[in-house]
Order: sequence, then C-alpha cells, then structure tokens
Amino acid sequence: MSTVKASSQREHRVTAKSLARRKRRAEPFSMLTAYDFPFAQIFDQAGIDVLLVGDSVGNTVQGGNDTLAVTLDEMIYHTRMVARAASRALVVGDMPFGSYQVSPEDGVRSALRLMKEGGAQAVKLEGGRSMAETISRIVGAEIPVMGHVGLTPQAIHRMGGHRIQGRSDAGRARVIEDALAVQEAGAFAVVLEGVPESLGREITEKLAIPTIGIGAGVHCDGQVLVMHDLLGLSDWTPSFAKPFANLGAAASQAARQFADEVTHRKFPGEEHSFR
Ligand code: KIV
Repeated sequence: MSTVKASSQREHRVTAKSLARRKRRAEPFSMLTAYDFPFAQIFDQAGIDVLLVGDSVGNTVQGGNDTLAVTLDEMIYHTRMVARAASRALVVGDMPFGSYQVSPEDGVRSALRLMKEGGAQAVKLEGGRSMAETISRIVGAEIPVMGHVGLTPQAIHRMGGHRIQGRSDAGRARVIEDALAVQEAGAFAVVLEGVPESLGREITEKLAIPTIGIGAGVHCDGQVLVMHDLLGLSDWTPSFAKPFANLGAAASQAARQFADEVTHRKFPGEEHSFR
C-alpha cells in the first residue's frame, strides 16, 4: 500500500485524537456496543463513530444477570469479529471483570491481548482513582484507554445493585474525583454511566477529554447505547435508553411466518427448489 493511500485511510478513520478534536469543536459523537461481524458492519457503514465490544455481552448475548462471568478469551473472540467489520469506526475492547483488578501488570497483559489477538484499537476499563495506576501503565504500553466512572456494572455487589451514582454531595464529589483521576492517568475519553444530568454536565465542562454518556444526560460529548436497547431486542428497556427500532417484534413475526409456511407446505416454493 502506498504511503499516500495509507495516510488517507488514517484520516478517514475515527481515532482517539479525532474524538478529542470533536470535543474541542463541540461536535457530539456516537458510540454503540457491537458483539459480532454483521451488526458491527451495519453500524460502521451507518456512520457510528465508536464500536464498543462491551462486556454487556454477558447480559445481551450470553443471557446472564450481570457481566461478572465474562472472560478475557470471550472478549477477544467478540472483539475480533467486530474489528474485522469496522473500516471507519474506532473499535474499543472492554476489559472484563478479573482481567485487570489484581495488578497493573495483569491489566497491561490483558490489554495487550485485546489489541494483539482481538484487533482492538483501544481498551475500556471501569474505575476511577483506584484504577489510575493501571490506566497509566496501559497507556505507557502505547494502548489508548477509555475510562468508565459513575455506575460501574462490574462493581454491582459493592454498589448494592445498578444504582444511580453521585446524587449526594459526597457521592458527586467522588464521581468528579474519579473522572479527573482517569484523565490525569492518561485516558483519552471516559464513559459516564448512571449519574444525574447536572453532574454529567459539570464533569464534561471540567474535563479536557471527551465524556461519553449513558444515563448521564444530554451535555456529554458523546452518547453510547447498548445495541439491544437501540434496536428493541431486549425484553426490557432501561428508562435512559430509547429504542429506535423494534427488531425483536420483526424477528418474532418472521419466525412465526416461517413456521406457519413450513406447516402448510407453502415454503419452499417452486422458486426456492432445484430442478
Ligand atoms: O459493556 C458495556 O456495554 C458498557 C457500556 C454500557 C458503556 O460498558
């Protein structure tokens, strides 16, 4: 590939740096979760800026009650499929519970695997001040890190459930300190999950790096949704999410019609049969 072609492809691609530019220009950007090739390709071609291979795969795809059982090997498997499909979007691989909490070295090792084996272009991990050293060590290994503070699903047992964070003055101060610590450690962006809109705004104004909100109000620099919530594929939609389609109902209708046509020998028709 010529240098010119390679550099024009780089300009086209969303990067950690281009997201920083979007914040400076006050141009909001979009992030969606994706876990496989076909949906990643659809979202990439639709112009979604960031594809997050979230550990929410534990809920959405694996059918679990939380994200704690997801393994690093599973995240690598899903990240590889998404990375193959994305030609414009930035692909971020989520670090699963247990893959970075024991030590910063462990974190660097896990992040390297997500990049080398999964094809991620950046990694995401949950936690603020307590994860600052780990973030800084991973960034030191030339891996862009996206932070995640506020409601952090891997801390479900410490938080006593999926609870909105930062409602009290002390809680608010803690989330602000966490976001600042993540920025100070070298993260290129931070997910703000489950915090009051006014706190989402305050943190977005305080930070130089982009904030990406989920249940954090309209003032964040970017917004993220879980694809199953976007597409109406979940049994239940959280109040902060908006289903933009109802693919669950469409899939159910298609399956019923197929079953009915098989039962009544209407499918396969002449046009689907070989002569
Ligand atoms: O795993 C995930 O999908 C996430 C998003 C909700 C930000 O962390």
